[in-house]
Amino acid sequence: MNSASVLGGRISGHRLAALLGDWRRSRRGATDLASAIELQVLDGHLPVGTQLPAERELADALGASRTLIGSALDRLREGGLVESRRGSGSWITSPQRHRGINPASSDSTDLIDFVCASPSAASGMTRAFDAARVLLADELVSPGYGDRGLPILRERIAARYTERGLPTSPSQIMITNGAHHAFVLALRMLAGPGDRVLVEQPTYANALEAIRAAHAIPVPVALDRDGWDLDGIEATLRQAGPRLAYLIVDFHNPTGLRLDDEGRERLAAMLTASRTPAVIDETLVELDLDGGPAPRPFAAGDWAILVGTSSKAYWGGLRIGWIRASEDLLARLSSARFGLDLGSPVFEQLVLAELLADPEPLRLRREEVRSQRDVLAAAVREHCPEWTFRLPSGGFWLWCALPEPMSTRLAVAAAGHGLQLAPGSRFGAHGGLERWIRLPFSQPPERLREAVRRLALAEAAVRGKSVGGEIQVR
Ligand SMILES: Cc1ncc(COP(=O)(O)O)c(C=O)c1O
Repeated sequence: MNSASVLGGRISGHRLAALLGDWRRSRRGATDLASAIELQVLDGHLPVGTQLPAERELADALGASRTLIGSALDRLREGGLVESRRGSGSWITSPQRHRGINPASSDSTDLIDFVCASPSAASGMTRAFDAARVLLADELVSPGYGDRGLPILRERIAARYTERGLPTSPSQIMITNGAHHAFVLALRMLAGPGDRVLVEQPTYANALEAIRAAHAIPVPVALDRDGWDLDGIEATLRQAGPRLAYLIVDFHNPTGLRLDDEGRERLAAMLTASRTPAVIDETLVELDLDGGPAPRPFAAGDWAILVGTSSKAYWGGLRIGWIRASEDLLARLSSARFGLDLGSPVFEQLVLAELLADPEPLRLRREEVRSQRDVLAAAVREHCPEWTFRLPSGGFWLWCALPEPMSTRLAVAAAGHGLQLAPGSRFGAHGGLERWIRLPFSQPPERLREAVRRLALAEAAVRGKSVGGEIQVR
């Protein structure tokens, strides 16, 4: 295997040297070395937590001076890719905090974050906070603990499922601290170290992080351009015997695809037949931008765990999500929760209950995101004409096919122009996906246009093309 195979494991100097190959690309010493390590991190070959070799060992393996190694590490630390502690050495930190190790001077002052795909708060948020303050008085006389959440919020969430075509009672709802927390809770209950978890490929990067952090093994099944490979999923359920499946069937992250009714029925039947519990992540389901007929919520008997959240429809800062599951499963999840936390904040639950009672904030959110989607799509078509994508009918991102495998190099070059990108490899269980890049449309139109301008410069730098009459040198 080409990567540091154990999360948090140590990579030897010789292995790192082999991974880096010919790193002296442009005779810029420490910059070349830092760039080569940066590429391996973004490409998923050096996972988060990997312990780097000591400076002396690396210097010997690379035939370089310790001074050069030291200044390459300085650059990586400044770029947010490596952390070091005296006595403990250096290790890879989250590529999410990656700022680029070689930022260009002029463009980088106003950094655009295209890694995070979440919008600012929906309009109507202040009004919901004000209304919740009034209701808070009634809650202050209670101890404030509750592993299932406030009854009023559970009622409103259950009613929304029923309205979407899946009859649900409040006793089937548990409030969590976001969708990710809900997934981690289910993972903790259902999969242990060494267990396999079926995931789509590509998939939500933080779900992969959670699976790895639980020392479970993600087993990817590829999505093709048109959607889910149901035969592939069926074969994987049979052959790999996963303990859990994690699936995003509505406005999938990062492809934006949505599974149709027929596909849902077949998938549900396969999961039921193989008795595989599945977390169905509905984080994006309310971000339906074109308002076409919606498929029914996914239901796979007693073993489907539907996970939802307020993060995308309203605001990530609320940190309120939920689980919809059978009452038996919910009772088990609720017991498992005590090892993790003791409930969700009361005030934020009241705020979400207020938001759910008013259709206007969600309507405005959809309108805003729809126009941002169209702005981003138009800008990409104009400035990156060789890129292709399918315009998603919901969610927050374009999943673009690049004209050549260059996603990681593009992310590195874009960082130099003040644009942080998540390369395709972030969404793969084992890296790869170099022909793909995810572009979020969760920011205001002028930021999106500026981001695409920088993207075009980055593409030109990577491919040695000319932009606006100037030749960009590779
Ligand atoms: C598919 C998916 N699941 C979960 C989350 C995290 O949601 P939350 O903020 O509710 O934890 C995200 C955030 O982008 C997401 O895209």
